[in-house]
Amino acid sequence: MDVVVVGTGYVGLVAACCLANSGHRVVAVEKDRVKLAALEQGRVPFYEEGLDELLQNALAQGKISFISSLSNALQDAEVVLLAVGTPSLPDGRVDLSQVYAAVQEIVQHARRETIIVMKSTVPPGTGRTLSKRFLAHCHVPIHYVSNPEFLREGKAVWDWYHPDRIVVGCGDETVVQQVLELYADIDAPKVVMDVTSAEMVKYASNAFLATKISFINEIANLCELVGADIDKVAPAVGMDQRIGPHFLQSGLGYGGSCFPKDTKGLDYVSSFNGYRFSLLKSVIEVNARQRIIAVRKLQEKLGDLHGKNIAVLGLAFKPGTDDVREAPALDIIKYLVDEGVVVAATDPLAIENARSHLPSCVKLSPDPYEALVGAQAFLLATEWPQLVALDWEKVKNLMREPYLVVDGRNALDVRRLVDLGYRYCGFGRPGNF
Ligand SMILES: NC(=O)c1ccc[n+]([C@@H]2O[C@H](COP(=O)([O-])OP(=O)(O)OC[C@H]3O[C@@H](n4cnc5c(N)ncnc54)[C@H](O)[C@@H]3O)[C@@H](O)[C@H]2O)c1
Repeated sequence: MDVVVVGTGYVGLVAACCLANSGHRVVAVEKDRVKLAALEQGRVPFYEEGLDELLQNALAQGKISFISSLSNALQDAEVVLLAVGTPSLPDGRVDLSQVYAAVQEIVQHARRETIIVMKSTVPPGTGRTLSKRFLAHCHVPIHYVSNPEFLREGKAVWDWYHPDRIVVGCGDETVVQQVLELYADIDAPKVVMDVTSAEMVKYASNAFLATKISFINEIANLCELVGADIDKVAPAVGMDQRIGPHFLQSGLGYGGSCFPKDTKGLDYVSSFNGYRFSLLKSVIEVNARQRIIAVRKLQEKLGDLHGKNIAVLGLAFKPGTDDVREAPALDIIKYLVDEGVVVAATDPLAIENARSHLPSCVKLSPDPYEALVGAQAFLLATEWPQLVALDWEKVKNLMREPYLVVDGRNALDVRRLVDLGYRYCGFGRPGNF
């Protein structure tokens, strides 16, 4: 099929490269000149495992091209995938300006019957509004399909080819079949429903996963008070097949470009529709509190934080990505700087993305050992395997007393660190070393 993909971020570029590798002719549109220049030179402008190989392959086969103008891309398009950003506004509302701008451009410039496939995460009701407000007035027929994306950054290519389900929201069976052609080579349940329900599936899924994370964090906080061990509790809870083992890791909570904005977005939609989503409000509150708990743990052990040297290990919101959007580390570093802490931070991939979000006094170093020199404490904020596997004897020699570890991901070997003379603090792990 002739496919246009609008937006070449984590979702759009993965979709474009995977579809091109499946034999579709893809034109990817990107308005950011820096990203576009990288793509035109055959470079992926961010880190995502396996994506570079797919891009090279698609370029070699002549199946993908990049362009800045959406209107020029529309000439042969049968299907236009929208993968533009839908960030949060300060009040939690979803900023749909990129979606509206792209849809308006399609309506103005479409030259043939076109299917718009919404991959961006948009609040329930958005498709209905777009159809009424814009699509109904186009000079050629435009069909609207909600096709939410569930991929995880860091595993995005794998997830594209192995989704748990493909959700298609559309009332027109012929259009549904055309959209499913995009996924003809993917073996997954295809679930067809109306547009608004498909939009809701995405929000409900992310809200539920975020709820699991905040729930286990509450249990971990309680474990500390009653003397239970979250390392014993969470896996045993997760062995119940009705619950499952995923998203039961306690620590600093969720970050990233999806869970924070999607939970806030759904909360806003609920309020807007006159419904108080109490559970979701608590999930959001608990998640914000975990970041403050990390600072309190440092304060409890170090006393007044002013003038103390603390290293933060990990800036990305999770391992395997260079994405720092809503990363817990960024908030925590700002709290620490406000308290007068001298902060050094490290990350294998995310330093450049983090730099503009951090105060200039924060020393950023790609070498974790350099970041740890002279530190009285460190916070593990992202459980990168290479950070978890540091040479802890060497680290101890670089640090200063009291050699405090705040393990924000419960990822470190407590026994080993304590044996080496560190003071260790996890989230819901027993002992006060
Ligand atoms: N990142 C994820 O893991 C993930 C997973 C599932 C769903 N989503 C959803 O997918 C959407 C995209 O997410 P992302 O992380 O890829 O966003 P992103 O911000 O990384 O990328 C969006 C891109 O769209 C480009 N863009 C915006 N308007 C454009 C236009 N009119 N023409 C051309 N380019 C345009 C931007 O320049 C940007 O490069 C969001 O709604 C997000 O919630 C993201």
